[in-house]
Amino acid sequence: MSIYRVFRDRFKDYKVLISGAGNGIGRTCAIRFAQEGAHCLICDINEKELEETAENIKKLGGHSESHVFDITHTRQVFEKMNSILHTHAQIHVLVHSVGIGYETQFIDIDEEEWIRCININLNGIVFMTQPIAKNMIKNRYGKIVNVSSQAGKFGRSLHTHYSASKFGLNGFTQSLALEVAKYGINVNAVCPSRIHTKMITALIEERARISRKTYEEAKEEYIRGIPIGRMGLPEDVSALVTFLASDEASYITGQCISISGGR
Ligand SMILES: NC(=O)c1ccc[n+]([C@@H]2O[C@H](COP(=O)([O-])OP(=O)(O)OC[C@H]3O[C@@H](n4cnc5c(N)ncnc54)[C@H](O)[C@@H]3O)[C@@H](O)[C@H]2O)c1
Repeated sequence: MSIYRVFRDRFKDYKVLISGAGNGIGRTCAIRFAQEGAHCLICDINEKELEETAENIKKLGGHSESHVFDITHTRQVFEKMNSILHTHAQIHVLVHSVGIGYETQFIDIDEEEWIRCININLNGIVFMTQPIAKNMIKNRYGKIVNVSSQAGKFGRSLHTHYSASKFGLNGFTQSLALEVAKYGINVNAVCPSRIHTKMITALIEERARISRKTYEEAKEEYIRGIPIGRMGLPEDVSALVTFLASDEASYITGQCISISGGR
């Protein structure tokens, strides 16, 4: 059940493709799009969690189809996108919520961790977007929303790779927006901070371990730095994502919009 007002038919007959839909923000976006009438094509590496998203959508009377793949396997991504486009003539909305976060001191990051972070948070998104952008150009319509991060606007200690990937994603978003605006395609990013999902729970656990504090103490510290005084909810982010994907946001493109409780 959404905590915010649901606009029942806002995405009626829309095909909405969502990466990272197995959990957290991506799952919440998928549920909201489905509640608002869209047919959701949900993608994730984690089959079990994707199935839970599909179950949630079904329970609410919505429609979805699941696509399991690793976004870092470019060839597999192209094959998947081609088969999706073979079945669906038009993808109206593409949302990328796929992502991975780490808290590691720069001097301890090995090549594998650095490359995995950039491959998931940036390269995978880029190559999944390419065939879909072609389809949107052909149809002279499209909305692309990338879930980036405040770490894509401001540097963060212990987040060099994550921050570099999200700065890259914001640059990709702004540049693509300029290139495809003439085809009726809007491209924006949302930049959350401290949204209560499994990813943040894992980061707080890691911070507690590094600073030898309890989980509750580390969580308290996290919240203290947020002017609004609470962590964000995935529903806060899905409200912004669906707005940007709607025709009410037609005059907004190339923006990286913070959703961070004032942080
Ligand atoms: N939670 C926050 O506070 C926060 C803050 C800033 C930005 N973000 C961004 O929001 C997005 C969603 O984060 P979340 O908190 O919901 O995280 P999450 O871990 O709950 O969701 C991320 C999803 O991506 C999937 N995924 C990971 N690697 C993949 C791969 N190689 N191929 C396909 N799927 C893969 C995971 O299985 C998971 O379902 C991420 O891009 C994250 O960087 C989150």
